[in-house]
Amino acid sequence: MSGEARATGLAEAPSWVGWCCSYCSAPLEPHGHGLLCRAEDRWFATQDGVHRLLTEERRRELLPAVEMDQRVRRDEGWRAEPGLPDVAPGHPHARAWRSRAARFRQARALAAGRLGPGPWRVLDLGAGCCWTAIGLLEDGHRVAAVDVNVDAEDGLRGAERVSPRAAAIDRAEAEMEALPAEPASFDLVLAAASLHYAAHLTRTLVELRRVTRRGGVFVAFDSPVFGRRQDGEAMVAERMRVQARRYSVPLDRDGQPGYLVGDELPSLFRTAGWSLEVHAGPGRARRWAWDLREVLRRGRAARFPILLARRDG
Ligand SMILES: C[S@@+](CC[C@H](N)C(=O)[O-])C[C@H]1O[C@@H](n2cnc3c(N)ncnc32)[C@H](O)[C@@H]1O
Repeated sequence: MSGEARATGLAEAPSWVGWCCSYCSAPLEPHGHGLLCRAEDRWFATQDGVHRLLTEERRRELLPAVEMDQRVRRDEGWRAEPGLPDVAPGHPHARAWRSRAARFRQARALAAGRLGPGPWRVLDLGAGCCWTAIGLLEDGHRVAAVDVNVDAEDGLRGAERVSPRAAAIDRAEAEMEALPAEPASFDLVLAAASLHYAAHLTRTLVELRRVTRRGGVFVAFDSPVFGRRQDGEAMVAERMRVQARRYSVPLDRDGQPGYLVGDELPSLFRTAGWSLEVHAGPGRARRWAWDLREVLRRGRAARFPILLARRDG
């Protein structure tokens, strides 16, 4: 039997997702502490509750960007913590978590408006430590989560730090551009602060549509949306300058998280087979104050709307 490294942790809740082989797309079946592709006699380990479904080649290619992202997030104080998004008032990111929680509430309400009360089959995309996945689980839905980051501090293996209930999330190390899941597996695909990491947005949207059932929805929030591409590029360039100074390492533009451009979104989504609604997030007065401050400070302001897309055809 060929395959990935042997499992070290115990397999957690049984998979409810039809996970597929990342090499040949054949269905995987439980086998020991992992999943087996009978077509290729290839075995994928399940470690600490996370199915390691990335191909070895992609894991190697993605590693520098994943490690840099982990480093930056750790240094900026983003990590798995009990009870997220609820944090103490003195927490260094208390304001950001309050806003994020409000946008997540609105995103859930918009999804419920389209899907009804559920229970839904949900995929949390670029889930990190799974705080949104846990919220949806607590609402009574069945939840799966994918990410390229399996770190125990901030990635998929950190989910139990947020809540012990995370053991019930069907988690897989996988990339959003090539999801190892059967077609039409999900009623809702959610991307919290992750869609702007997509290396190829159109390809990713087509892939998300493939795994969403007809009539299902895709909701993205907390991705920066600019009015002009040049403002997004200026944000990326500024971030790269800061990181180059802080870490003294050469940086690759391709590994950087990006941004979305407002005017391009309707046609991008339409081309990929989605009908899109763009909803302003909560807190209009705070948003205006933020825009003003950003424009004065940097000459540009990103918006953080909630994107609600429906798979009609
Ligand atoms: C800003 S974090 C957001 C994490 C979490 N969703 C949240 O709201 O806190 C972006 C996440 O997207 C993940 N990511 C980046 N590129 C990805 C890809 N190609 N496929 C899947 N996940 C990806 C990162 O590893 C990271 O965990």
